[in-house]
Amino acid sequence: MKSWQFATRAAAMSPSIIREILKVTEQPDIISFAGGLPSPDSFPIEAFSAAYEKVMREHPRSALQYAASEGYAPLREWVAQSLPWDVSPDQVLITTGSQQGLDLVGKVLIDEGSRVVVQTPSYLGALQAFSAYEPEIFSVPNDDQGVQLESLEREQLRYQARFIYLLSNFQNPTGMTLSLHRRQEIAKTCHALGLPIVEDNPYGELWFDAPPPPPVASFYPEQSIYLGSFSKVLAPGMRLGFAVVPPEVYPKMLQAKQAADLHSPSLNQRLAYEVLTQPGFLEAHLERIRALYKGQCQAMLAALQRHMPDGVSWNTPKGGMFLWLRLPAGLDSAAMLPLAVQQGVAYVPGAAFYDTQPDMRTMRLSFVTATPDEIDRGIALLAQTIEQQLAA
Ligand SMILES: Cc1ncc(COP(=O)(O)O)c(C=O)c1O
Repeated sequence: MKSWQFATRAAAMSPSIIREILKVTEQPDIISFAGGLPSPDSFPIEAFSAAYEKVMREHPRSALQYAASEGYAPLREWVAQSLPWDVSPDQVLITTGSQQGLDLVGKVLIDEGSRVVVQTPSYLGALQAFSAYEPEIFSVPNDDQGVQLESLEREQLRYQARFIYLLSNFQNPTGMTLSLHRRQEIAKTCHALGLPIVEDNPYGELWFDAPPPPPVASFYPEQSIYLGSFSKVLAPGMRLGFAVVPPEVYPKMLQAKQAADLHSPSLNQRLAYEVLTQPGFLEAHLERIRALYKGQCQAMLAALQRHMPDGVSWNTPKGGMFLWLRLPAGLDSAAMLPLAVQQGVAYVPGAAFYDTQPDMRTMRLSFVTATPDEIDRGIALLAQTIEQQLAA
């Protein structure tokens, strides 16, 4: 009997290492810093219940019907108005999570062998989405302010990439944020090089003390696709995000979306709109999430300070969900993971987020899913594991 014959693109797909790790860490006795799940305490459950009743009372038939592929018009208008630069609702495409935005970008802009620039390390889900379209990915390193401009210029002049994929705020995985100056410099450099930008910003609203600078796309809107998400602000189970797309690219993104899913769920779009526009809701809700995550981040920073041996370093994120830790020389976070899980704590080895030349000493720690008590215990277990490795 003839067996299935996979397309070359399917052969290029690989399982997400994070999802594989998550399977192991779902056991209840493990304190997991591995997942990137928002805290369920942040979900606006009552606001959703009220919105559901309202939508079912006022618009049940249209909420349950097929709808426009572009998205629910009032939600598109809301998105356009919420952004800090001049965006027309016609440029807004509602997507099934920003993950779909990444896939549509790949579908529309990448041919086999097309070059794409990414920061390194970068979001694994984007590498996964793009790789299905078989690009040649090349990475530019970050310094402490973000993408290194000289390597970007050098590499782009050599490789003529189709776009650069950028994470501007509280980056997944490193928690890092691009400075205002670097954003302006990136926009200027991309303009000079004729290099379009795909900016992914699902975490921008989750700042602790001060909002981050405006998106890179706001300094170069004509050649930027900007992706946003409702997952971290409302709830990921809604599977709603958006793309702001220049008029030249919009029709192609729309056609790609039509082929993928016709449109994002009408009911969820109406619910999101109702929740977002409940008077006074959003500001109070965001303040609550910011305070919750800031407290958890501070608990992790304090625990690291308390427990970690010399030679371990980490950054201090200004928002978001992740912190980036680096082990002392000679240690390898991927090799250490089984021992850490045995001790009762899990993380994602940094190597998962590099396309090439991983820094094996790094790891991503999420501070939002565990409680402050669990964070302290988990970090103590991690420190113990590191000490054992150093002594071995
Ligand atoms: C950087 C980044 N982009 C996109 C996504 C996808 O988010 P969603 O599809 O839930 O909007 C995530 C999810 O964790 C992410 O970290």
